[in-house]
Amino acid sequence: MKVLVVGGGGREHALCWSIAKSPLCEKLYCAPGNAGIKAVAECLPIAADKIHDIIAVCHLYAIDFVVIGPELPLTLGLADELRAEGIACFGPGKLAAEIEGSKGFMKDLAAKANVPTAGYQRFTDATAAKDYVRAQGAPIVVKADGLASGKGVTVAQTIEEALAAIDDAMINKAFGDSGSSVVIEEYMEGEEVSFFALCDGEVAIPFTAAQDHKAVYDGDKGPNTGGMGAYSPAPIVDAAMSDRIMNEIINPTVKAMRDMGRPFSGILFAGLMMTKTGPRLIEFNARFGDPETECMLMRLKSDLLSLLYACSKGMLDGIDIHWHDYAALTVIMAATGYPGSYKKGTAIRGLDKAATVPNAVVFHAGTDTNEAGDVIATGGRVLAVTAVGHTIAEAQSRAYQAVDQIDWPEGFCRRDIGWRAIEKTKAA
Ligand code: AMP
Ligand code: GLY
Repeated sequence: MKVLVVGGGGREHALCWSIAKSPLCEKLYCAPGNAGIKAVAECLPIAADKIHDIIAVCHLYAIDFVVIGPELPLTLGLADELRAEGIACFGPGKLAAEIEGSKGFMKDLAAKANVPTAGYQRFTDATAAKDYVRAQGAPIVVKADGLASGKGVTVAQTIEEALAAIDDAMINKAFGDSGSSVVIEEYMEGEEVSFFALCDGEVAIPFTAAQDHKAVYDGDKGPNTGGMGAYSPAPIVDAAMSDRIMNEIINPTVKAMRDMGRPFSGILFAGLMMTKTGPRLIEFNARFGDPETECMLMRLKSDLLSLLYACSKGMLDGIDIHWHDYAALTVIMAATGYPGSYKKGTAIRGLDKAATVPNAVVFHAGTDTNEAGDVIATGGRVLAVTAVGHTIAEAQSRAYQAVDQIDWPEGFCRRDIGWRAIEKTKAA
């Protein structure tokens, strides 16, 4: 079949890398792709949110199946438009993608489906929001309602910090319209996990879990980013915990979405806090995680394309997903300055040397090639250096071995990805 992957980040490189291996894949395109994706797919210069250009190209190249990576085209309704044109696609429609696009919708849904999550209130008035914060006390969490690239959340340790976050979102419009409504919620304590389930609207099956590091600096310090690294499996999610998460969080959500006339078809990504009383939902995403996908797909033994296609056709019932019994770990190399402002266009060398490190793959997240043929950085998160090993510690050491081959003076990475899991195995 002819397949188009929409997006151009590390997640999409991993999706393309995996789909290209499928015997079902006759030809693979990616829009817009990046310098790394070019090695496995034909890249088309179309931005992921140009819905009508994507539809046109699907007709032009007789695409059979579209896999949508990022949240923006999902919330813009790309999946609905493709289906209306008779083109099969992986990813939820606009109404179902609201599970990620609106935190308020997600919280109301969790309450309706009885999914354990933090207590919350929604506000469209800054004064009322502030009164609520003063009454609740700190720590407390303030979230812009709409999409804010993972930057619209403040975990406030003091009331003053929470009040400033409300001003930022509602008065200073730091996140544009996404912050004109806020959700204020109870602070939850525990270890975070990214749990993924494939859902076909009716049936959900567990995919796997990963853990990412959101903070920019070692020791999980500094501002939050889209993710500086990840590893999979998540030691904290064993088979019993996976069942519990399916029963308490995923299945009730899939049922509630179906009952609301918004059947969720695609990958449901639950960001969970593993608290003393069990897993509690932080948020849902309507897509694969980034960088979680890079390490998860290195572990996948089953054919990804047939899984995604079966999912899109409502045929997940009875499918088992197989995994290699090794661990995988991803280290993000980002442009100096990220998540603040950073330089674009700097040259990256040594990628060929990194490619010779056994059991490692360098996924590209934000790259392009210039006229001279050099790979250059075009984003904040630029490379997702991933490796596998018998243990997370072995995967970590291989990933850093590959990182150390890369010559990119304008980039940086955390040196401690996986520390929590590795300390746990040492303690055991
Ligand atoms: P979100 O965008 O909702 O995933 O939030 C970003 C990050 O903020 C999460 O990954 C958590 O680290 C933190 N966070 C969000 N909500 C809560 C909460 N209720 N309690 C504690 N931490 C939270
Ligand atoms: N790594 C978190 C996310 O993809 O949202």
